[in-house]
Amino acid sequence: MSSQANPVLVAALLSAILLAFHPSAAAGKTVKCHPEDRDALLGIKKALNNPYLLSSWDTSIEVDCCEWYGLDCDATTHRVYTLYLLDNGLPGKIPSEIGNLTYLRELILHKLPNITGPIPTTLPRLRHLEFLTIDWTGIAGPIPDSISQLKNLTYLNLSYNKLTGPIPSSISKIANLGYIDLGRNRLTGTIPASLVSLKGNNLYLKLSQNLLTGSIPESFREIDFGQIELSRNRLEGDLSMLFGKNKTTQFMFLDRNRFEFNFSKVEIHSALSWLEVGHNRAYGQMPEAMAGLELQHLNVSYNRLCGKIPVGGRMQSFDYTTYFHNRCLCGAPLNITCP
Ligand SMILES: *[C@@H]1O[C@H](CO)[C@@H](O)[C@H](O)[C@H]1NC(C)=O
Ligand SMILES: *[C@@H]1O[C@H](CO)[C@@H](O)[C@H](O)[C@H]1NC(C)=O
Ligand SMILES: *[C@@H]1O[C@H](CO)[C@@H](O)[C@H](O)[C@H]1NC(C)=O
Ligand SMILES: *[C@@H]1O[C@H](CO)[C@@H](O)[C@H](O)[C@H]1NC(C)=O
Ligand SMILES: *[C@@H]1O[C@H](CO)[C@@H](O)[C@H](O)[C@H]1NC(C)=O
Ligand SMILES: *[C@@H]1O[C@H](CO)[C@@H](O)[C@H](O)[C@H]1NC(C)=O
Ligand SMILES: *[C@@H]1O[C@H](CO)[C@@H](O)[C@H](O)[C@H]1NC(C)=O
Ligand SMILES: *[C@@H]1O[C@H](CO)[C@@H](O)[C@H](O)[C@H]1NC(C)=O
Repeated sequence: MSSQANPVLVAALLSAILLAFHPSAAAGKTVKCHPEDRDALLGIKKALNNPYLLSSWDTSIEVDCCEWYGLDCDATTHRVYTLYLLDNGLPGKIPSEIGNLTYLRELILHKLPNITGPIPTTLPRLRHLEFLTIDWTGIAGPIPDSISQLKNLTYLNLSYNKLTGPIPSSISKIANLGYIDLGRNRLTGTIPASLVSLKGNNLYLKLSQNLLTGSIPESFREIDFGQIELSRNRLEGDLSMLFGKNKTTQFMFLDRNRFEFNFSKVEIHSALSWLEVGHNRAYGQMPEAMAGLELQHLNVSYNRLCGKIPVGGRMQSFDYTTYFHNRCLCGAPLNITCP
């Protein structure tokens, strides 16, 4: 019968297909990854004491090094363009040999708690880098000024480490950096005035849970963040420059600082969806315009606010802890009747 396939033929065909797609079989035909990248990878492996995680990084097996664990090569140039080492107890420092992977566009070192020591001085050699994540590791010491040599960086995430010292103002030289997350470190000093040089909107800045002092730079009046997170620092002074009629900022996490500002003078913008400003020194009244917002979340507790909670919108749908511990706020949902 013509509709029934020959089982022997099917099996032969299937194994031929499997063989063709098997990496070791393919290795003989395809261009192997660049010898410089291979040597750089072997250097990284050696510097990390040949860990089990990198056991596939081995030239004694006939496998194109583009097939090794934790990396990808560019389809046309065959240069290693991404390296990602994740969720491992691997001990040691970030090897300086990483700077030899000069065609890297993405570097992700995520949840490697036993990786300690500084950011290697060779990192700025990775001129093609666009996406840099080193988070949840034990790395310590300063963020080097030379990070500004990574001119093509668009995304920088150094959160959840033990970094100390100031935020280098040289970061402003990275023209297209739209995502900056330096949260949960031990960074000190002030926020550099020119930290964000990129214009446009939907910028993301997170500096929460550090030891930052001083005021928010006045230059931030001109910046339209999509999300800004400055919680749990020692920042002081005004923060009204983060607000304004033209802004499209949706998420603002500004709680647990020492911001001292007249809330009545804050120009609430309609895009605002999430405002966390508890544990500061805000005074004055809550702007009436807040009743016109589509707020998902609000917390103004532990400030020095007075007057009637604006009535309408979502304002009365939040529970009293949104508003409690202020000087003389009154009206629903607080239990305090306005005079
Ligand atoms: C990582 O470090 C911790 C604390 O020093 C240690 O207990 C743990 O065994 C280390 N893990 C590995 C896989 O080396
Ligand atoms: C790689 O980098 C190390 C340290 O940064 C250097 O000593 C070594 O010569 C480099 N190797 C290659 C193959 O470029
Ligand atoms: C930086 O990005 C631009 C635009 O994508 C590209 O033309 C240029 O080659 C990149 N430079 C490096 C060093 O990768
Ligand atoms: C940076 O990494 C942290 C921790 O993994 C993550 O929660 C955060 O969303 C990342 N930041 C950005 C801007 O993606
Ligand atoms: C807001 O828009 C006005 C007019 O379009 C412009 O002159 C002003 O500079 C803008 N302000 C900000 C903070 O972008
Ligand atoms: C806060 O600003 C409002 C509006 O400009 C003003 O009426 C009020 O007196 C100010 N409050 C304080 C305590 O300075
Ligand atoms: C507001 O913040 C305070 C202080 O951190 C907290 O106790 C309260 O539960 C929060 N309320 C809401 C609704 O988030
Ligand atoms: C509000 O007031 C009532 C009556 O005085 C009291 O029973 C209740 O515990 C109060 N609720 C809050 C959240 O303070």
